[in-house]
Amino acid sequence: MIDIRTVSPNDAEQILGYCKTVGGETDNLTFGAEGLSITVEEERKFIEDFLGSDRQIFLVAEENGEIVGIAHFSSSPKPRLAHRGEIGLSVRRSVWGRGAGTRLLEKLIRFARDTAGVKLISLEVRSDNHRAISLYQRFGFQTAGVFPGFLNIGGEEVSADLMILRLP
Ligand SMILES: CC(C)(COP(=O)(O)OP(=O)(O)OC[C@H]1O[C@@H](n2cnc3c(N)ncnc32)[C@H](O)[C@@H]1OP(=O)(O)O)[C@@H](O)C(=O)NCCC(=O)NCCS
Repeated sequence: MIDIRTVSPNDAEQILGYCKTVGGETDNLTFGAEGLSITVEEERKFIEDFLGSDRQIFLVAEENGEIVGIAHFSSSPKPRLAHRGEIGLSVRRSVWGRGAGTRLLEKLIRFARDTAGVKLISLEVRSDNHRAISLYQRFGFQTAGVFPGFLNIGGEEVSADLMILRLP
């Protein structure tokens, strides 16, 4: 069974390994098999910033003690930006289609609305990532525009959709 919980600083090393794995499994993320290129200590500090915050949240999906998905939402304290936030989401290929992405996204949106109090959530997704786009559409995200050349993967430029969800 897949559990969803808040991240802990002790997850830092496992998350870096997880990012290398998911980065190698798809070309849909902003990194490949090289992962995040930061140290465990840097990742630990990154995680600590999320803890106890009402402006950002970092969740992990876990099965049998192994991290199989991560998701975060961040919003800025700047008054002119505080009405909106951004999310990132990934799930290991071995558990795709079992609802982890849906459950992570549901919790991010609830936090964004009820705790951070934002009105808009945005994300960028490869324009050909139909799986992720249909998941986002199911939650009401709409494509606001296309960013040509958003990613450069091995010399090939790939476009991304900017998707936005307006909260009630
Ligand atoms: C996108 C991603 C997060 C979805 O996670 P997941 O755990 O498989 O998602 P779920 O099981 O909750 O939902 C799958 C949804 O994907 C969509 N989907 C599934 N198979 C699909 C297919 N073949 N074509 C199009 N959409 C599909 C559906 O909307 C489905 O919802 P449904 O249950 O109503 O059918 C996951 O595939 C992933 O991490 N991919 C690689 C990284 C990535 O693309 N991240 C997003 C970057 S913006």
